[in-house]
Amino acid sequence: MPTTTSAAGLTTGHAPFVESARNRGELYISQPYDEYSKENHESWQRLFARMQPRWERYANPYFLHGLDALDLPHDRVPRLADVNRRLQPLTGFCARPVSGYVPGFLFFDCLKRREFPTTITIRPPDRLDYLPEPDIFHDVAGHVPMHTEKWFADTLVRFGECAHTAAEMTAGIADYRERVAKLTSLMRAMSRFFWFTVEFGLMRGHGPGGICAYGSGLLSSWGELAHAIDSDQVQRYPLQLEWVVNQVAEIDHYQPILFLVDSFDHLFSLVDEFERWMRQGRLFNVAPGLPDIAETDLRSFLDAA
Ligand SMILES: [Fe+2]
Repeated sequence: MPTTTSAAGLTTGHAPFVESARNRGELYISQPYDEYSKENHESWQRLFARMQPRWERYANPYFLHGLDALDLPHDRVPRLADVNRRLQPLTGFCARPVSGYVPGFLFFDCLKRREFPTTITIRPPDRLDYLPEPDIFHDVAGHVPMHTEKWFADTLVRFGECAHTAAEMTAGIADYRERVAKLTSLMRAMSRFFWFTVEFGLMRGHGPGGICAYGSGLLSSWGELAHAIDSDQVQRYPLQLEWVVNQVAEIDHYQPILFLVDSFDHLFSLVDEFERWMRQGRLFNVAPGLPDIAETDLRSFLDAA
């Protein structure tokens, strides 16, 4: 039965259920499915319908297989329980509903446990094109189909393990300022690496010009997905770790530079290399600049050690 708050629905920026959970300090929540309004379901339907032809043209084949395997509904917001029933037998991953931003270490630690923190709200109908914060369309239609692929799922787990390595490696530094500076550099490097792969990664082998998308920021954006692959305004280069960890990542416009991997086992091997570089102390002084490292994220890593 709909509850008294259902009229507001679960709209990004206006979701009483989520706001109350946040006010109570609850990060992990349920998905109160009856709270979704008619308008929320219509937003999903519109987003899904216009993405379909673009996915078929630009998405990597594993994403398309993932969409089929999950059988995501076209006409309504998916129930995470239904998504997980299909996803977990494939790679052990599940989508876990959260009330909002998950501090860095906790986010990566969830990945290590094969849990993907998932936003349950959906963008308002007048902002279908762009929303700076994630919503359920970005998280479930953009990310989750990739979690059906073994190497990609294992890569996410390795990112989670790298967060533990970063926390452990800096825990023994006696000088607090030095510890924070080195940890901040490791977090910035990891955040850039994650951004240019899991969020905005391109892959060789399929799609127009032999390039397709696997990054979820691209796969959930009608405009940027085509732009990333077709536009001559985008520089596309083979992923080199030394470049990516030093490359500024800006979030408020289409990406002018994107990086290509050959395959998901190639991506997996790059995360191994990244961790090796961390352990060798090669990432303690990456180039300054975006992304900024928020105090809550830094605290989460300090507290983890
Ligand atoms: Fe994302």
